[in-house]
Amino acid sequence: MAVIASQAPIFYAEIGCAELSNYLRTSKPSIIFVLVDTNTHNNCLNIFLQQLETTITIEVIEMEAGEEHKNIETCSGIWETLSELGADRKSLMINLGGGVVTDLGGFVASTFKRGIDYINVPTSLLAMVDASVGGKCGVDLGNLKNQIGVINQPQMVLIDSQYLTSLPANEMRSGLAEVLKHGLIASETYWEKATNLEALTLEDLDDLIIESINIKSSIVQQDPTEQSIRKTLNYGHTLGHAIESYFLTNPNKVTLLHGEAIAAGMVMATHLSFKICGFPENKLRDITKKLNELFPKIDLLEEDYKIVIDLLKFDKKNSHGNINFVLLKDIGEAKIDVNVPNDQLLEAMNYYLKN
Ligand code: GLY
Repeated sequence: MAVIASQAPIFYAEIGCAELSNYLRTSKPSIIFVLVDTNTHNNCLNIFLQQLETTITIEVIEMEAGEEHKNIETCSGIWETLSELGADRKSLMINLGGGVVTDLGGFVASTFKRGIDYINVPTSLLAMVDASVGGKCGVDLGNLKNQIGVINQPQMVLIDSQYLTSLPANEMRSGLAEVLKHGLIASETYWEKATNLEALTLEDLDDLIIESINIKSSIVQQDPTEQSIRKTLNYGHTLGHAIESYFLTNPNKVTLLHGEAIAAGMVMATHLSFKICGFPENKLRDITKKLNELFPKIDLLEEDYKIVIDLLKFDKKNSHGNINFVLLKDIGEAKIDVNVPNDQLLEAMNYYLKN
């Protein structure tokens, strides 16, 4: 089955292998570069290479794992390696990894010699349901998340949940935050399904992934360059990204996984939605309870509030000096470009801390 996300087709499981082989036969890349990180080198590369049927030269490039390596220095290293290994404009880059690898690898490919083709093979839940789909790629600027980048669609995205068997539980949870976000912005039924995880089988997980990708793809399809509805995919990310950036560089804080920061950001955004957009209070309570059960409480203190609010000025949705929030009128009914006064932000952070 293929789902079209803007121009990039998404293929599942063994169909993906067949489609990749077809693609390689017809587009005949000069060299295939497989970008991995230290984790996917150990856990995923063999699985991927065993499925790859081709006589084209394959070079593996490895980067360090972790958000702290999602920067322009890592890109420079990879651009140099590509150059040394003779990459030309007909070379293909295959990003085999989580969100850091697919974001950074997509950016490296999109800018090397003004752009070579790339394919995403996401190996984390987060990358499957969010990062690898929709063509956003880029890197952080210092501690500021995803400040440098482009929107450029991959040739295809290959989803295979067998890669998830080696994924640590906290990374699975991190991806779940984006799954839940898709429910909150687009479908109450999906939210209910995704939060009722007690009897989750592998088949259920596959269904959950496909449905999440369908939600995201349909939004990207309508607004590939994020002029309007695509902003809804940033639910919980305005405060979430600011908190993630702050924790990333503060030596007194433990670095958060993206989903952990976004889960906290979604509790806060739902409180703002209740205060500003009339979001039902009973659903706010339910969402808070579910997110608190699934995600560890982050170590945010009252003395951190001001720094977090200061960091909001770097949010990519801002325009003309305004900080634009995505809020909800109800589950599945998002509102974009909502201006939020500072006292409401403080209240939302207090709500998170006290509930
Ligand atoms: N991760 C949000 C988006 O792709 O638009």
